[in-house]
Amino acid sequence: MKKKKIEIEITSCTYGELSAEDRILVDKAKDATKRSYAPYSHFSVGAAALLENGMIVTGTNQENAAYPSGTCAERTTLFYAGSQYPEQPVLALAIAAQNGKDFLDTPIPPCGACRQVLMETEQRYHHPMRIILYGKKEIFIVNGTKNLLPLSFGSSFLE
Ligand code: THU
Repeated sequence: MKKKKIEIEITSCTYGELSAEDRILVDKAKDATKRSYAPYSHFSVGAAALLENGMIVTGTNQENAAYPSGTCAERTTLFYAGSQYPEQPVLALAIAAQNGKDFLDTPIPPCGACRQVLMETEQRYHHPMRIILYGKKEIFIVNGTKNLLPLSFGSSFLE
């Protein structure tokens, strides 16, 4: 028997240290939180996806009285991008969240189901995604879902 370690790599930075392009994407994700529909959790999440053609599409969490019928901001955004611009690889995705009072201090990590969808999006377009997790005090930049969802199940197992 032997132990194996899987390492992930992330970059920690502040808003001021972001590139101008990443700052725009984060601003769009923050702005999107205003359009969240979260009457149950009062946790408003926004996501912004940068497409290869330079377009940015945004989405928010959409809750439902039948709780599991709701969807996270990341999936709303990526499914919208895939539906409207199926030929466009998603180069980057920024995520921001407000807890009813203010944006979170710490980077907002996507849930497990969203990580799976992020990974499928990368595989679909054969392009790793830069994922920017916004927090007021700290931001994480994750280069590719291999650093977000190690030991993942993907389409290669079905071949
Ligand atoms: N939520 C997201 O939109 N993205 C995440 O990554 C985590 C959670 C939403 C789902 C639900 O509407 C609310 O936040 C509380 O879980």
